[in-house]
Amino acid sequence: MGDQPILRINALTKRFNEFTALHGIDLNVRDGEFLAIVGPSGSGKTTLIRLLVGMDEPTEGAIWLRDSRIDAVPANKRPTCMVFQSLALFPHRSVGQNIEFPLKLRKVAPATRKARALELLELLRLPASYYDKRIDECSGGEKQRVALARALAFDPEILFFDEPLSALDYRLRKTLEKELKDLHRRTGKTFIYITHSLEEAMVMSDRIAIMKAGRFEQIAPAAEIYARPRSRFVAEFMGEVNLFDMVDGRVPGLRFGPRASNLFVGQTGTLVVRPESVALLAPGEEADVALEGIIESEYLLGSRVQYTVAREGAAPVTVEVLRENAVGGPGAPVVMGFGTSACHLIAPEARDAAA
Ligand SMILES: Nc1ncnc2c1ncn2[C@@H]1O[C@H](COP(=O)(O)OP(=O)(O)O)[C@@H](O)[C@H]1O
Ligand SMILES: [Mg+2]
Repeated sequence: MGDQPILRINALTKRFNEFTALHGIDLNVRDGEFLAIVGPSGSGKTTLIRLLVGMDEPTEGAIWLRDSRIDAVPANKRPTCMVFQSLALFPHRSVGQNIEFPLKLRKVAPATRKARALELLELLRLPASYYDKRIDECSGGEKQRVALARALAFDPEILFFDEPLSALDYRLRKTLEKELKDLHRRTGKTFIYITHSLEEAMVMSDRIAIMKAGRFEQIAPAAEIYARPRSRFVAEFMGEVNLFDMVDGRVPGLRFGPRASNLFVGQTGTLVVRPESVALLAPGEEADVALEGIIESEYLLGSRVQYTVAREGAAPVTVEVLRENAVGGPGAPVVMGFGTSACHLIAPEARDAAA
């Protein structure tokens, strides 16, 4: 992966009449990167990708592909390609004809087209005999691979995906996630992948850009976003989480041992602690931070158990432990604890900005 950005977005704004869908956003995408753009429905993901592929023009701002400004270049003149959710293949034509279609549009000679199609079949791990097979004789997964082969036909620099797997069933989605990741590795191309599924983004991407209401909330590798979310919104978007409001180094209901007291002295913000970082303490056992409550409900997650623990005068806490460390069901009083290394403090500015 190169360090030079292949794509640069600068102060990009998109307005539809009075409504602003994108608020002057910036983004650098590295050459060869797999970037996932994640966000709730209506956050502006499709609007952004439409500007990037040239299906629409920005109201303000610029898009650069390496050294060329491309935001006014028509879609068919850009070295980028969009893979849609609906595959838009020609069902009565052959696999070969479908893959060659973009090359035919570009007036590539038939022999060259066929050679390229066969190369792409191999890349997508489809047998060469599929060249003559009709699309409507292919399975769902095979069609998806043909669509990918077609997207790669004219060797685009960047491939864009707008929720390509969201209409598929779970098993096929999981298989294709792996194949897409693998295809990315083998082609070395830049993939920009929109999804509302965080899980999908986490499995496949090098970095995740989290979008909210037409802005990026955070852009970082998944592990970093998970461990160090910049806002409450991101923390909650990244799965089950416990958030505690800290004022001047104190959180009502939490007992800080010396290490935590030193760490948090004078601090104000939101303390983020993931459920798997909270332990159920044995009598006499100590932790940097301790709190207590009564188990309200339990929920089995395969080898783990998730508890909701009610607390007096405070929000419930979610705890996730290995099944062998389970301590009993609803009604049982528990003491919980976590270490300072499991804590992340969100600054109040970031929290307010996200509100
Ligand atoms: N052509 C349009 N005219 C007016 N509003 C639009 C248009 N396209 C999108 N929007 C609005 O912009 C916002 C972002 O939409 P979209 O980019 O499709 O979100 P996402 O893909 O994240 O679900 C939504 O509020 C949507 O209603
Ligand atoms: Mg969309």
